Amino acid sequence: MDANNESDIQKLFTESLANDNVFTIATTVDTGFEWQAVDECKEKLNKDIKIVKERGKIFFNICRNQFAQVFTFCYYFHVQELRSIDNIFIVADVRKFKFTESGKDADLQLFKDSVHNSMKLEKGLNAWKCVTGFHGKIYPTIEDYNAAKKDRKPSNTPTTVATNKGRKRGQDPSETKKDELLRYRVTCERTGNHSFESGEVARAIGGELQDKYCWLVDLTTYYLEIVCKLTNDELVTHLRVTHESKHRRNITCFGPTTLRATVCYNLLQLAQPKPGDIIIDPMCGGGSIPIEATLVYSQSYVIGGDNHVKAITRTKSNVDASASDCKIDSISWSASHLPLKDSYVDIVVSDMPFGKRSGRMVDNRILYKQFLIELGRILKRSTGRSVLLTYDRRSLNMALQTAGDMFWVTKMLGVNIGGLNAAVYVMKRTDVLYEFYKPKISKHIQTKNK
Ligand SMILES: C[S@@+](CC[C@H](N)C(=O)[O-])C[C@H]1O[C@@H](n2cnc3c(N)ncnc32)[C@H](O)[C@@H]1O
Repeated sequence: MDANNESDIQKLFTESLANDNVFTIATTVDTGFEWQAVDECKEKLNKDIKIVKERGKIFFNICRNQFAQVFTFCYYFHVQELRSIDNIFIVADVRKFKFTESGKDADLQLFKDSVHNSMKLEKGLNAWKCVTGFHGKIYPTIEDYNAAKKDRKPSNTPTTVATNKGRKRGQDPSETKKDELLRYRVTCERTGNHSFESGEVARAIGGELQDKYCWLVDLTTYYLEIVCKLTNDELVTHLRVTHESKHRRNITCFGPTTLRATVCYNLLQLAQPKPGDIIIDPMCGGGSIPIEATLVYSQSYVIGGDNHVKAITRTKSNVDASASDCKIDSISWSASHLPLKDSYVDIVVSDMPFGKRSGRMVDNRILYKQFLIELGRILKRSTGRSVLLTYDRRSLNMALQTAGDMFWVTKMLGVNIGGLNAAVYVMKRTDVLYEFYKPKISKHIQTKNK
């Protein structure tokens, strides 16, 4: 293969192959926040780390001694360090295929041949075993396999999956017994024009892996999921490490619009909190932003409020179920009339009603205006920062006109929230006095009045 044709991911993986202590990691990140994740990896792992960024995903190489920083949710590690990343995979293989013109069977045979002849997953598998705390056998003999197959209960029912209500994937590898055989499944995600379907790739690779490693196929209560991502002619083989997505880490009592903890972290980071800052979320719902704030910025004072009775109860339940050092004041209030002094708050981070599942767009017109004026009052002049997430750009832009010269929008990001194209507004409070702010007159109105 021509080395110049190598993709960035392939180059990264090739570098990891040259050193037994280096591993390529793939993580999913919230779409639109990829740069946030890149910055976090640079800050916490290594400022010179090479990162390959794709939509909703980043890839990077780490050394064995950095496992604790990346796999902190796992069996051996307790404090989670990388907070913007969601699902984590070890990249076990990257290769390109030259698909034949002679049709599906020949193409599928290429996958089988590569698994059989040249795909070496052992390095990745050993790392997977280490970070997930899998106690069973990852290299069983054919005798082990035959015995396990004989002993296997006929009901391969998805009991765990059902009780987990689909939140967890497969079975927790750390719960295995010592002699238990590895149960696995292979899935395929495919982009590009091919002569075969994704399921056929998964079956071809899965079948060949079973012959090679004597594992037990189990589509529901598997310990290891092998995710094969085929993009045109390039196949990246991932070993899933996260049994449960990391965005669910803080919340036990979910509501209709609960925000992912990963998104909360990214929003908070955009506000650049400093020790001692007062951080508030005036429309906190179940408290996901305040909880993430208090866990990460433990030297800040965090307040969450909402005008919905259920939201405050939910926040309290989530705070109680969260880490013991999670201290938040949760208050029932209206975001348009906050019981706070002028120029009191350093940071306001909020996930505003989108007007879809929460609130109505027509109500947003008024609510957003009143809210922004109130923010202008409570945020510290010159230093106060605000990061607002909304789907309803129109109402926010109109509110910004009304709140006028009290805010300066420093950054705007387009992000995907539950399939909706939302926007994040990063704003600074100017030094204009609340008493003397002037609404911004839109150019349209100015011209009309001339
Ligand atoms: C998008 S949800 C926030 C969800 C939250 N981030 C979570 O993860 O649970 C918007 C919240 O704004 C609240 N809200 C709407 N109007 C409000 C107002 N005038 N004052 C305070 N809260 C309000 C709603 O009750 C709702 O909980």
